[in-house]
Order: sequence, then C-alpha cells, then structure tokens
Amino acid sequence: MSNNSWGGQWTEIKLDAFIKYVRAYLTIMKKYPYWQTIYFDGFAGVGQRVRDRQGQQILDLWEGEIPEDIDVYKGASKRVLEEKDLSFDYYYFIDKDKENISSLEQIANNTNHISRNRIIIREDDCNAQLTKLASALSKKKLAALIFLDPFGMQIIWDSIQQLKKTRSDIWILIPSGVSINRLLPKNGKTKSKKVLEGFFGLSYDEIHNHFYAKREDLTLFGQITNEEKIENPIDKIISLYQIQLKKIWTYCSHEPLILYNSKKAPIFHLIFASNNEKALKIANQIISKRQRK
Ligand SMILES: C[S@@+](CC[C@H](N)C(=O)[O-])C[C@H]1O[C@@H](n2cnc3c(N)ncnc32)[C@H](O)[C@@H]1O
Repeated sequence: MSNNSWGGQWTEIKLDAFIKYVRAYLTIMKKYPYWQTIYFDGFAGVGQRVRDRQGQQILDLWEGEIPEDIDVYKGASKRVLEEKDLSFDYYYFIDKDKENISSLEQIANNTNHISRNRIIIREDDCNAQLTKLASALSKKKLAALIFLDPFGMQIIWDSIQQLKKTRSDIWILIPSGVSINRLLPKNGKTKSKKVLEGFFGLSYDEIHNHFYAKREDLTLFGQITNEEKIENPIDKIISLYQIQLKKIWTYCSHEPLILYNSKKAPIFHLIFASNNEKALKIANQIISKRQRK
C-alpha cells in the first residue's frame, strides 16, 4: 500500500473518500424508496481552522490531539448538504460546541434545495444521540449512513453497540497513531484504563493482553518476567477494533484508509462497517483507489 497520502492533505483525502461513498449510497438507496434514509453526523463540526489564537496546536488527550497541517477546509456537513442530485430524507448534525451549532444552523438555513425541516441540528454528546438513533432505526423502516469523525476517543463502544441489527452503514475515524497509541506506554502502566475500556468495549486485562507480551530476563537474582509493548501497536489497534466492529456489523473494511501526517507517520484510520456486502465492496474500492493516489 502506498503511503504518499500524507501531510496537509489528510483531511481532504478523508472527506473526498467519504463523499464518494455518500454519492454511491444515495444512488443505490434510490432503488429502495420504501426505506427512508438518514444521514447522521455525530461530530459534525463545520470545517475551519484548528489552531488557538496564539497559533499553537491544541493538545488534549481526551478531546484528542489536533494534528498538524490542518488548515481552512470545507467540512463534511457542508459537503453533504451541497450534494444536489440526490438527497437523504433526513439529516442529523450533532455537535457539543455551541458556536459550531450556530454555524451549522446558518449552513442549513442557506441550503435551499433541502427543506429546512429535514435538517435536524442538535447540541449534544454524540453518544447520547446514537442511543436515540439506534432506537429509531430498530422501530421504523429507516436506513442510516453514519459518519463519526472525532479527533479523539470520544466514541463510546456501548453507544455504537446499540446499532447491532439495524440498517446502518458507518464510517469511523480511529485516532490510531495519536490518542490511542499514546495511552499505551512502553512500560504497560497506563493511567487511562477507563478510557481504553470505554473505547474498545473490553476489560482492561483483555486490552492489555493484546498490546503487551511477557519477556523472561535473566538477572543476577535469577529469571524474572518483564513485559514489553508489542511491535506495530498501530496495526494491532486497528485489528482489535475490526474484531470488535465485526461483533456489530457483518462486514468491515479489511484495509481501512490510512491517513498520514507530513512525516509519513499514520495518525488516523478511516474504517467502514455495514451489514451489506455490496456496500463493503464499494467502500473498499473507494479506499483502495484513494490510498493508491
Ligand atoms: C474533528 S471535528 C469534526 C470535523 C468534521 N467532520 C468536518 O468535516 O469538519 C470534531 C467535532 O466534534 C465535536 N465534538 C467533540 N466531542 C464531541 C462529543 N462527545 N459529541 C459531539 N460532538 C463532539 C467538536 O466540537 C468538533 O466540532
């Protein structure tokens, strides 16, 4: 797999791949008019810049480290609403930030080709709204395309688990090379057990066993057992998350879209999951084409 999709382009690469899928999804769903479609963006944002007033990168382990090289860009919310040929029956945009909510409202008010009452904007935690979405999907003939695009580890496993057996296709951004890997120190003594448990939906012991191996060292006092972090932890983060996703959806992308920073280090993986094999095939094609560019 080529790794030349790095640097300032990573946001553009991510959104370009996603929008291609949105178009394919709407084209297919047009053939099934008895399904009402929902677009659900759980971390809607509005694009824009992500540096503080002093021009410093903002860093917060829980919110997620905001990686370098992000500049002004058009967010997914605007891109999805600008799609004119085909549209969803309902759009849900969720964000915790008041300012983003009012910007989203402005974008929605200026979108003339979609009736305003089909665009729902909520200032809330994505996890709380996912619970509501899952409940609606299980009761009605609704199909959802879900986009979860946080910088950090805000997606709680229990909230996406509720989507099991629903007609849902999901794209999730995993902060593999940033937040998650940094919560797994070399010495195996993390201070963030709860965050890791909430994210992977596993007990800390299970998570620990995936990332640390026992090593026997001979010392003056005899043989002692030490622990060391496995090689390629980022690959392991993704394979563990894939195992978990397959407990909810039948299919998930075997090779997610890898997003690199300017030093060519992987920072995020964009992963797709669905109960529909054809949907997986389309997502895989989009990913592999985008990764090769
Ligand atoms: C990476 S940005 C989203 C980028 C957006 N998809 C785009 O294309 O521009 C993450 C957004 O999630 C919001 N956010 C952070 N934690 C959240 C949570 N727990 N629930 C909902 N929104 C959250 C932030 O305010 C921010 O606007």
